Amino acid sequence: MRSSAITTTQNIADSILQPVLTPSTAIDIKNVTVSFKTAKGSYTAVKEISLSVQKGEIISLIGHSGCGKSTLMGTISGMVKPTAGDVTANGKPVMGPGPDRGIVFQNYSLLPWLTVYRNIYEAVDAALKDLSKGEKKELVERNLKSVHLWDHKDKLPGQLSGGMKQRVAIARAFAINPSILLLDEPFGALDALTKSNMHVELLKLWNLDNREKTIVMVTHDVEEAIFLSDRVVVMNNGPAATIKEIVSVPLDRPRNKRDIVHDPVYMNIHDKLLSLLIDKFSIDDIKD
Ligand SMILES: Nc1ncnc2c1ncn2[C@@H]1O[C@H](COP(=O)(O)OP(=O)(O)OP(=O)(O)O)[C@@H](O)[C@H]1O
Ligand SMILES: [Mg+2]
Repeated sequence: MRSSAITTTQNIADSILQPVLTPSTAIDIKNVTVSFKTAKGSYTAVKEISLSVQKGEIISLIGHSGCGKSTLMGTISGMVKPTAGDVTANGKPVMGPGPDRGIVFQNYSLLPWLTVYRNIYEAVDAALKDLSKGEKKELVERNLKSVHLWDHKDKLPGQLSGGMKQRVAIARAFAINPSILLLDEPFGALDALTKSNMHVELLKLWNLDNREKTIVMVTHDVEEAIFLSDRVVVMNNGPAATIKEIVSVPLDRPRNKRDIVHDPVYMNIHDKLLSLLIDKFSIDDIKD
């Protein structure tokens, strides 16, 4: 048994270190159920989900199409009201959307009547009221250049490809630089090279603020989830979907994409995620 003197010294040390060592909770989802009214009655998409995300964490949500990933993200963004349960973001109950939570929607959600430039400028203007006009312009320019769309800044969303729209939506969320970034399949429509570049841009943005930004991302890409995340949340199929398993990714950062794929830790996580996602590994040949 430890002596009381040591215990006291330990307690003092602990209390001094605590503010530094204790990570604070950025997002707290408690017993959240979401049911939608449909023509056929009530449909429960997700049921009694609880998940805490620490400040500075990068979390991926993966699961089959229709299992409720966007619905769960919606409860964090404030676009979807839980039928039961509570969600807090940065210590405050989520009552609706707010500038502390930037969102890249699955369907890009650009304003079709505004040019690429104005889509980002208007968002920056609304969210970062204290900046001067020059600073806002500089922010828009920097972020449009980072997604290689500066030359397309005067086009309307209807004149862009799917991948280009997605990059505008990413640039818009990055420009606002919120403390919580919610990304719903943000890189799904991008080619492999652009996707890889966007991973680097995302991690640069995360590194900028001493890694204090919290990121929740929906993806169908297992490699992307492992490369970027601290934890991967695997969801069960709906209706009434729950969390199947949470897989930690204890790989050191910065991570080198080419190197980590040979790391046994990576390979184990990859195998585990695949087996959680795929029930059957082989399909019987179809016989006549
Ligand atoms: N507004 C709504 N009204 C009725 N049902 C809805 C509504 N939004 C979602 N759903 C249903 O809830 C379930 C979960 O949908 P959700 O969009 O969250 O899935 P998802 O996991 O994001 O799928 P995907 O990977 O295809 O984007 C689906 O069955 C969907 O039809
Ligand atoms: Mg979705």
